[in-house]
Amino acid sequence: MSYYSIQNIKLTDLANQFGTPLYVYDADKIIEKISILRDSFKNVNLKIKYACKANTNLAILKLMRKHGVEIDVVSPEELRLAMMAGYEGSQITFTPSGVSFDEIELAAELGTRINLDNLDVLEKFGQRFGNTKGALIRLKPHVFGGGNEKIMTAHPESKFGISIHQKAEILAIVEKYDMKIIGLHQHTGSDVKNADAFTQAASAILEMAFSFKDLEIIDLGGGFKVAYKDGDIVTDMEEVGEVLSNAFLDFAKKYGRELQLWFEPGKFLVSEAGTFLTTANTVKRDPIKTFVCVNSGLNHLGRPMMYGSYHDIFNASNEDESVQEEYRVVGYICETDTFSWTPEGKQGERLMNKVSSGDIIAMKNAGAYCFSMASQYNSRLLPAEVLVINGEAKLIRRRETFDDIVRNLVSVEI
Ligand code: LLP
Repeated sequence: MSYYSIQNIKLTDLANQFGTPLYVYDADKIIEKISILRDSFKNVNLKIKYACKANTNLAILKLMRKHGVEIDVVSPEELRLAMMAGYEGSQITFTPSGVSFDEIELAAELGTRINLDNLDVLEKFGQRFGNTKGALIRLKPHVFGGGNEKIMTAHPESKFGISIHQKAEILAIVEKYDMKIIGLHQHTGSDVKNADAFTQAASAILEMAFSFKDLEIIDLGGGFKVAYKDGDIVTDMEEVGEVLSNAFLDFAKKYGRELQLWFEPGKFLVSEAGTFLTTANTVKRDPIKTFVCVNSGLNHLGRPMMYGSYHDIFNASNEDESVQEEYRVVGYICETDTFSWTPEGKQGERLMNKVSSGDIIAMKNAGAYCFSMASQYNSRLLPAEVLVINGEAKLIRRRETFDDIVRNLVSVEI
């Protein structure tokens, strides 16, 4: 039953009530993930900073805040959303990559904690603020970790962070402007299942940390891998929690000060909470395979086509498992937009309970990087979003209308 419903509300009822395509999020799941993370790091002074790029719906941000989770933002717009959700500047971390110094100045003036990710901004920050404002430095630890090369961020060729091999340059700038570096940051990548990648990255950062005298924070980023299907290998949170906590506490002891350990997960907190509901427009029987064509596409859920990601897909309208067929689940976009990828990262078919046109086709792990990466490609409207909270389904974003598509057009005589 739970496969077909969220907090006892049937997926098909949600589809009927709100229409499709529809993103649905389960607040209980998010709360559960927050407490798993807290439990894994119960021996340290932990701060969780939700990487809100995963899902910026205001209701999700408010839910995080209510449950004591702070926030990581990457743009002035995310910063404004965080403030709309009630966060104070000091609870917000700004972790941008390659942005203009104007954005960094704005974030500093609003009192956020900033991760400086290149030598140029480090120098500008020093010139502008000297020792009057603290900042964190984002380091690149030269570690390989992540689900695929597009989402690995700590390896030698990555654009992110200042290489740990540029320690001398960093220290020279910090000294020149008498800067107050309050934290060191690193983010290994996304979908990191291997605990070793986290420990290698952490040791590279901690080794360097002895060279900074004002540290209050060690920020080890996000990237914990979640399950995409039954039996999937995920980050072993108990193991990572224990190994990293020990390394951190050991460091703090030698450093001679109590420090905060920060993480900024996105997927870990919201991926599994989301389900994407679509409607089968047609079941197309081809001589070679059978396609289920749904009323969505890579415009709404782009992860399979971008990263070859696996999303569990099932027929929410038919619980009868006695008649199943192999289907290639595709969208309505005018280019290849297969949703059903194989675990090996190829476009493929899924065994599903028999599908008829009009059935509700559900996709799991739709809470992170799905709506937030959606577009109006093919001039299609963005879906609505619903949060199921305390057993009640609440609309948290209206479906777009044609007006949204033409809103910013400027009419000119041609
Ligand atoms: N911290 C930093 C600095 C990041 O760049 C990211 C993600 C996170 C934390 C959160 O990572 P997470 O815990 O969500 O793995 N669109 C891709 C993922 C891109 C991740 C970008 N940075 C996907 O759908 O797989």
